[in-house]
Amino acid sequence: MPEAPAPLESDGVGTDAVAAVDAVLATDEFESVQAVVDALREQGYIADTRLATTVFLLTRLDKPLLLEGPAGVGKTELAKMLAAATGRRLLRLQCYEGQDETKALYEWDYGKQLLYTQILREKIGQVVADAPDLHEAVERIGAQESVFFSERFLAPRPLLEAIRSPEPVVLLIDEVDRADEALEAVLLETLGEFQISVPEVGTFSADRRPYVLLTSNNTRDLAAALKRRCLHLFLDYPAAERELEIVRSKKTGLSDALAEELVNVVRGLRELELRKAPSISETIDWARTLAVLGVDELNAQILSDTVSVVVKYDKDVKKALDALPRLVDPNAEVPEAHGHGHGHGHGHSDHAHDDEPGGADGREVRAAKDQAGRHGDGVYGTPKYAKDTPVDAPAKARNVTSSQGSRSFGLGRKRAL
Ligand SMILES: Nc1ncnc2c1ncn2[C@@H]1O[C@H](COP(=O)(O)OP(=O)(O)O)[C@@H](O)[C@H]1O
Ligand SMILES: [Mg+2]
Repeated sequence: MPEAPAPLESDGVGTDAVAAVDAVLATDEFESVQAVVDALREQGYIADTRLATTVFLLTRLDKPLLLEGPAGVGKTELAKMLAAATGRRLLRLQCYEGQDETKALYEWDYGKQLLYTQILREKIGQVVADAPDLHEAVERIGAQESVFFSERFLAPRPLLEAIRSPEPVVLLIDEVDRADEALEAVLLETLGEFQISVPEVGTFSADRRPYVLLTSNNTRDLAAALKRRCLHLFLDYPAAERELEIVRSKKTGLSDALAEELVNVVRGLRELELRKAPSISETIDWARTLAVLGVDELNAQILSDTVSVVVKYDKDVKKALDALPRLVDPNAEVPEAHGHGHGHGHGHSDHAHDDEPGGADGREVRAAKDQAGRHGDGVYGTPKYAKDTPVDAPAKARNVTSSQGSRSFGLGRKRAL
């Protein structure tokens, strides 16, 4: 059902109808882009105007928003904070490879069905008691099927739940690039119509459309149709001022001056073509770490000693250690080797040529290593390289988050008995 149009203030005449619409919308609609900035900030989320404008449009145009960008730039957080800012409930579909549509739409609550049949055993016995043969008994049970495939036994998953919810919600479809194309097609269909049909029960449609946010870490290209259907925003690492503002807002305990220096160091690290560039959350962690250590001056030594807070792969650490003296003090003379005075393994020979043109530069190495699913949540190569990544590589051991699938009855039980 199409949502009522946004109130227009052009004529300034408050007719009853407009007033009624206003009343419905007033609770969780933003008046302006600035209102979005303010409301998100109140929740601790710092948005620039580009992001806030997109969010504003999302709330007005009935279109899902697809957020693409590297891990750790605040995509998931935006959905959470939008929910908090609008007072809407957040429903989250965490995507993973091999996920089938029942985990997104609905399942039949097999356990409950079984429990009911156990309790009702006698009653069921009566239904078939005088059936002359098996065929007739099956027919009679079949005639009762609708009792067991009714809304009572429906286990809604996030999409159906979002559509069925009497209160409008924020629906987060997180890391959609991890889902298979088949699920993507289901999402496309559902997001297009905002309705879900359950053959045994009927068609559900949303009274008020949810705000839908999809996120992607760009490990693979998404279907053009999905992109077309959505508002789209590439969320990159923030500008220095915004990152500083984010760090400040987290009350890390680090002084503003040092936080500013630190943000610049992290930005320098991001330019190193690391396998996994430091994200905003890692900048925050680093600031906290340095504050806990009582640091009152950033120097190469203390940054080297704590660099593992922000870079987590051995080769990345080595690259970072080499770069840190330059990043913290651009005029520093960097000794040829062993300049970082760090207790790290001294295997310089194996990485000293990594950055040379034509050498085994990180890209190939990363591509070889960066198999999708090799790591847990949110750990990917930076998106620039993701294109080179064999996404079809084995990716069996993915974790299913606890937020969904808690009552999975396996065996493709949907509509089966
Ligand atoms: N704009 C922002 N304002 C405040 N905190 C942010 C912002 N962007 C990122 N963060 C911080 O970074 C963390 C990681 O963000 P997250 O949303 O999990 O990243 P993504 O989903 O893009 O991988 C968040 O928990 C939050 O603390
Ligand atoms: Mg995320």
